[in-house]
Amino acid sequence: MITLGEFIIEKQHDFPEASGDLSGLLGAIRLASKIVNREINKAGIANIIGATGVENIQGETQQKLDLYANDTFKQALEARGEVCGIASEEEDDFVSFDTKRNVNSKYIVLMDPLDGSTNIDVNVSVGTIFSIYKRISPVGSPVILEDFLQPGTEQVAAGYVIYGSSTMLVYTTGNGVHGFTCDPSLGVFYLSHESMQSPKTGTCYSINEGNYLKFPVGIKKYIKHCQEIVPEDKRPYTSRYIGSLVADFHRNLLKGGIFMYPSTAQAPNGKLRLLYESNPIAFLAEQSGGIATTGTQRIMEIKPTELHQRVPFICGSAEMVKKAQEMVEAYP
Ligand code: AHG
Ligand code: MN
Ligand code: MN
Ligand code: MN
Repeated sequence: MITLGEFIIEKQHDFPEASGDLSGLLGAIRLASKIVNREINKAGIANIIGATGVENIQGETQQKLDLYANDTFKQALEARGEVCGIASEEEDDFVSFDTKRNVNSKYIVLMDPLDGSTNIDVNVSVGTIFSIYKRISPVGSPVILEDFLQPGTEQVAAGYVIYGSSTMLVYTTGNGVHGFTCDPSLGVFYLSHESMQSPKTGTCYSINEGNYLKFPVGIKKYIKHCQEIVPEDKRPYTSRYIGSLVADFHRNLLKGGIFMYPSTAQAPNGKLRLLYESNPIAFLAEQSGGIATTGTQRIMEIKPTELHQRVPFICGSAEMVKKAQEMVEAYP
């Protein structure tokens, strides 16, 4: 049984230039995830469910746990000293860490501190998503917006924590995807899923079909493709939609499947945020043999223009995503 910390150090030896900063950073994420996990596990009795009554920049009503998770990860990342700034779904603008140690560090982190907020009060899996880059502005100066607007191909690491029937931390540094399961009795993450590979195809599609009438024709055609009775192709597929991107992605990563949050007439860029939802999940998808696209463009090649910009998102098993892309392109 190898722990997350031991695994990071072992893998660090694969990077001669690694200075241990990234290991320290991942350690801060590990610590914060345990603190958030503890609160989630007693949410119903800890007066931490429900809304704060405040609206975030997304136009969403912030949940108490959104803020708790945001503050916990922000403090842990600042305290560890390897991060010069963060951006978050729950912060209007990026946050610069100005202590001498932080200003001289080389990493920035973008995060969705609590993904699937609408599921908190009904005890359904939620998650945290993180994306790590090296700053492009000079070390020693405060971070600038451009540090956060790098394409997903520049990520040095990305991952998520899923607070589900068990709590797992899944991450990549560009050398495969590795999953760790928390032993709650010890508060230790143990390697449980090394070099995770997404099945090339699957029999599960995830999409909020309540929006069916608003979807582009190509997406409607693909949904009908999933529902056709073609036994030799194991169709109709199963429809599974949890409403937490992390939980839907994690299931598809293990079992095979496709997740879609397309554009609609009312939301031409869809709902999911490029920098702290789509890019990190895309990095994990590609590192495990899957595909992540807007339907016409590779997610990780998009040049960001705004912190909270949204993109249409189709992600999962390569053969299923390719079929969906074909239909999106055939019916623009
Ligand atoms: P968040 O809770 O961080 O705002 O993200 C919620 C996202 C994502 O987790 C999920 O896939 C999607 O919203 C669900 O949206 P709908 O409820 O519109 O289907
Ligand atoms: Mn939200
Ligand atoms: Mn989210
Ligand atoms: Mn969120």
